[in-house]
Amino acid sequence: MKHFAVIGNPIAHSRSPDIHQAFARDTGIELSYQKLLAPLDGFTEVMHAFFAGGGDGMNVTVPFKEQAFAQAQVLTERAQAAGAVNTLWMQDGQLHGDNTDGAGLVNAMLDLDWPLAGARVLILGAGGATRGVILPLVRAGVSVITIANRTISRAEQLVHALQPFTEPVPLNTCGLDQLTGEFDLVINATSASLSGDGLVLPESLQFSHAYEMAYGKPSQFLDQARARGAACAEGLGMLLGQAAEAFYVWHGVRPSTDIALP
Ligand code: ATR
Repeated sequence: MKHFAVIGNPIAHSRSPDIHQAFARDTGIELSYQKLLAPLDGFTEVMHAFFAGGGDGMNVTVPFKEQAFAQAQVLTERAQAAGAVNTLWMQDGQLHGDNTDGAGLVNAMLDLDWPLAGARVLILGAGGATRGVILPLVRAGVSVITIANRTISRAEQLVHALQPFTEPVPLNTCGLDQLTGEFDLVINATSASLSGDGLVLPESLQFSHAYEMAYGKPSQFLDQARARGAACAEGLGMLLGQAAEAFYVWHGVRPSTDIALP
């Protein structure tokens, strides 16, 4: 039996063990999957001890994804573009790192039959959540990505870091307070819904699809999108999608995300 874990701080709320066990049941694979709480200054020790003790793979969540990126000896291209790693495994004695968050989002939207090819995409926020999804959106064939952030310099830095990975899809930036125009898809990657803060969209902003990365929280963003008649979805699909992609990386089997969680 292979051994897996998710590491974070906090970690008690994590749904990853339930999700991976549900995938394992559906695909007939036997595995163990535990939660690992690492001290805020102790990620590296806990992670290496897990692999030294025979661990096969590990998911990494807040706040350790950048540290996991720094520790991995071999990185996938999407992990390099993300600057963060959420999936680790040992292969040929080397620690490999991938980032499946963006693929999870893209697959969740494709499952909803949202048209990504040629889509004009607006992403709200310019933190790690945004960075993780840009390359998979580019690979999905979107035509242009605009990153709008409260602090515009952060959006500009992100575009600078991502440009080598994303040509020829243009990446634009703007301030959250300058938002206007017409988009096919708006993704809320700010932490506003997690912190309970409001996010007010200007009337001049038009869009047909709205994805909230957070889930299970009240979202002013989705309230406004619904009021405009946009198709709406929240982050449970992305969570299941990133887990399914990590499962595929580890086991070579792509599980269905249509699972019943306890
Ligand atoms: P994550 O890794 O989840 O992306 P982060 O790196 O802390 O988290 O980034 C949070 C993002 O949400 C940032 O883009 C932040 O904007 P700033 O760069 O201007 O700080 C954005 N954000 C957080 N709270 C917000 C709010 N109330 N309104 C608008 N944007 C907000």
